Amino acid sequence: MSYFITTAIDYTNGSPHIGHAYEKVLADVLNRYRKQKGESSYFLTGVDQHGQKVQQTAEKEGVNPNTYVKRVTKGFSNAWEKLGLDYDGWAETTNPLHKECVQHILQKLYDEGAIYKKQYKGFYSIRQEQFLTDKERNENGEFGPEWGQVEERDEENYYFRLSDHVAWLKDFVANNDDFIIPAFRKTDVVNAIERAEGTDLCISRPKERLRWGIELPFDTDFVTFVWFDALINYISFAGYLKPEGSALPNFEELWPANLHIIGKDILVPSHSIYWPCMLKAMGFSDEQMPSLLVHGWWNIKSDDGSEKMSKSLGNVVDPVNLVEQFGADAVRYYLVRDIHTGRDSDYDIERLVMLFNTELANNLGNLCNRALNMTKRYCGGLTTESSFDDASCQELRASLEGCVAKYREHMDQHAPSHALEAVIGFITSANVFAEQHKPWEIAKDETKTEQVNAVLNHMVEVVAIASVLLKPFIPAACERIQTQLKAPQLAQLTLDQLQWGLIPTGHEVAKPKPVFPRIQLEKPE
Ligand code: ME8
Ligand code: MG
Repeated sequence: MSYFITTAIDYTNGSPHIGHAYEKVLADVLNRYRKQKGESSYFLTGVDQHGQKVQQTAEKEGVNPNTYVKRVTKGFSNAWEKLGLDYDGWAETTNPLHKECVQHILQKLYDEGAIYKKQYKGFYSIRQEQFLTDKERNENGEFGPEWGQVEERDEENYYFRLSDHVAWLKDFVANNDDFIIPAFRKTDVVNAIERAEGTDLCISRPKERLRWGIELPFDTDFVTFVWFDALINYISFAGYLKPEGSALPNFEELWPANLHIIGKDILVPSHSIYWPCMLKAMGFSDEQMPSLLVHGWWNIKSDDGSEKMSKSLGNVVDPVNLVEQFGADAVRYYLVRDIHTGRDSDYDIERLVMLFNTELANNLGNLCNRALNMTKRYCGGLTTESSFDDASCQELRASLEGCVAKYREHMDQHAPSHALEAVIGFITSANVFAEQHKPWEIAKDETKTEQVNAVLNHMVEVVAIASVLLKPFIPAACERIQTQLKAPQLAQLTLDQLQWGLIPTGHEVAKPKPVFPRIQLEKPE
């Protein structure tokens, strides 16, 4: 069975920031991990290209929306390439295959009576692109600033019978603990379902207001509400209702085990209410519902406490700049190392530099450098058979199993920061082991040759193991390590095959080149 990982598709109304980058790196790490486990895994990401905000921004810039989204989309795909993301599918909602799928679904729901037309007078939030009800008013009876500009509208629209499925959804959420991960987010959903009771979802926008969207197949005066369109990317690009001969994957193979990775701001109402009800209306069973992995936010610290990152505050961090400054490995590592999945974290460039220098350069980089250098110097570049063994060697070998078990456990729970702690701990213990034996000193003593050989073999072996365990996180660096080990076959190793003895005795290693040159912050003038 295949494992299917998607992320939210990023809105093409701006450029990528580290929040977007984090979500995509998290998905990439989990996808690469699944593949390394020997499972077949598929990672879909992409961009959300329709809607009022895109139309408005394009108008402001005096270009047509198509030209505008093409340009912004390029900014996203370019950033993901720079970050070394290896996605299997790319979703663009202006893709004709996606449009066709959305229209098929709309037509079917309309024919079945799940979509109807009605006149509605009410308040509309431009920022959130949705109608508001009295339940959205705050304690003063007003629509708060989170809704942005709100205007009164009186118009005919099409509605999806969301209310038909709310009782089912309530039950489903209560009885399925892996629908929302982590569990503490469930309360938000349960409360939002209460608020949603009795209301249907407006899924159209009249063309005189919005042209930039997917036309309703049964009424060409309207386009589809952007969320109804965007959510469908998770199935359209997975091959749902795909036309014969299309290059899309086979839906039945992808869909059963799937994980939607999203940020906490889009859990309700879109992903936990609209989406499962849409799937239910399309005939999906409870077993076919996705799991939602809800991550927290990267915030930008300011003097008065934590602050949101936003274009209007002018504090948006550009991942491409970071990659140009520090390299993709450093940025990837930081983004999944310094946040615990589900929680928020404060973005801090000094921690990015510090974590890279201490955990990668000084710890793994140093171990690799010392192991290969001394193997060159004392053993002619060959790992050499040895009869030496003592408690410290045995302990180091024995600690592998615990490290891998922890690594797997945390990765299976989508918690890469904790998985990394296990690997870093293992590398640290190999450095401690080296300090205990001091091969650089005992090499002068001819009676200790066996010990030198054994210690170096152990160090080389830990480097090899680390290059496998860290590959999903820092693939380029691990590839460089494996090249220096002259062990390219490690790239194909599955986790089940990972055991002590990856590098046999008599194996020749290359001369080391620093894999993690230390990075530093540019000092302001
Ligand atoms: O919501 N930290 O797009 P989007 C972490 N197009 N994650 C963040 C973040 C931050 N500071 N800021 C945003 C949309 N995100 C829709 C999704 S899905 C069918 C349609 C996350 O560009 C955010 O939570 O506003 C979301 O998961 C993703 O980036 C895209 O946000
Ligand atoms: Mg958003």
